[in-house]
Amino acid sequence: MWVADMDFPCDPSIQAAMVERIEHGIFGYTFADEEFFQVFRDWAKETQNWTIGEGHQLYAPGMMPAIRELILGLTEPGQGVVVQPPVYNPFYSVVTQNHRRLVENPLVLQNNSYSMDFDGLARVTADPDTAMVLLCSPHNPVGRVWTEQELCTLRDICQENRVILVVDEIHGDLILPGNSFYASGRLAWDSVISIQSPGKTFNIPSVNSAQVVIPNDDLRKKAQIAFDIGGFEIVNPLSVAAAKAGYTHGRQWLNHILGQVARNLDLFDELVAQAEVPMKRMESQGTYLAWVDISEMQKNLGLNTREVQQELRQKARLWVSPGTQFGQDGGNGFLRFNLGCPEEHVREAVRRIVCWWNNRD
Ligand SMILES: Cc1ncc(COP(=O)(O)O)c(C=O)c1O
Repeated sequence: MWVADMDFPCDPSIQAAMVERIEHGIFGYTFADEEFFQVFRDWAKETQNWTIGEGHQLYAPGMMPAIRELILGLTEPGQGVVVQPPVYNPFYSVVTQNHRRLVENPLVLQNNSYSMDFDGLARVTADPDTAMVLLCSPHNPVGRVWTEQELCTLRDICQENRVILVVDEIHGDLILPGNSFYASGRLAWDSVISIQSPGKTFNIPSVNSAQVVIPNDDLRKKAQIAFDIGGFEIVNPLSVAAAKAGYTHGRQWLNHILGQVARNLDLFDELVAQAEVPMKRMESQGTYLAWVDISEMQKNLGLNTREVQQELRQKARLWVSPGTQFGQDGGNGFLRFNLGCPEEHVREAVRRIVCWWNNRD
């Protein structure tokens, strides 16, 4: 239950599209064709009410490769890139390993709910050496789906300080009932760069591609140069076939999966409460990731977050992610569980936790 992919086979239409492409038999150099971009424009319009401008999309072989090249192509060594911990941990290394300055503006946890620290954001983006804000929307690991209001406030801050806003929307289609996703591409500001991918949406992260949408011509040209340097023009034809099929035929499959994920989250809460294990899942609005407060359990055991995670792995035989992986302070006292799985896996996971908890020394 650690790595963020699901234990479900993909929609048969995706598999069939890849088989058909394989049967073609020729695997020479290829490219992302107009249909690859068109199917995503249609998907964005229909499911996110987002009209993407013609010619604004670039292909990338995945989210992190895209983010890496955007950092390299649009910022200078030593400039600041803002992230908001606790957050998907490669956000840290993609900044530091590319010799940019990591600027942390932690999320605020109040009344069991996470929000952005806008005063902090205004302060760090006012620094002339800050070049970019990297937002995770919806937010991995805390499961917040940012509202239109929150995103507009963030946009205003970035616009005022001339900072590029890069939004990782890989979880943008994984929205739980009662919540709605506001695509950053609707923010009506041309220095927002929105990145989406069929990887999580259709559970095909190993046949990966990403759609990078950049309305600003100058930024898009610079990004294209960086993408070319990064070798993005060599495209995996299976990833193109899979993306097209998913965005064309995958809606029903996704709805079905989202129903299962919502039921799993409720089931997890129910089973943990019944067993009286001191764990509490934070309310989530999106993603299939459960962000679980274990502070009381930690205190009880006299262990830190990593040690609890290790105990679970070694003794309960359940592998989840320690919260501290996503941020030393903000992740302390939390574990991240992946509940994108059949219901039996949730039952088995909680059974193992309960067995370990009740029989510990
Ligand atoms: C927020 C976020 N961004 C990016 C990725 C990875 O995307 P890719 O495999 O396309 O680089 C993940 C995977 O878990 C993620 O959660």
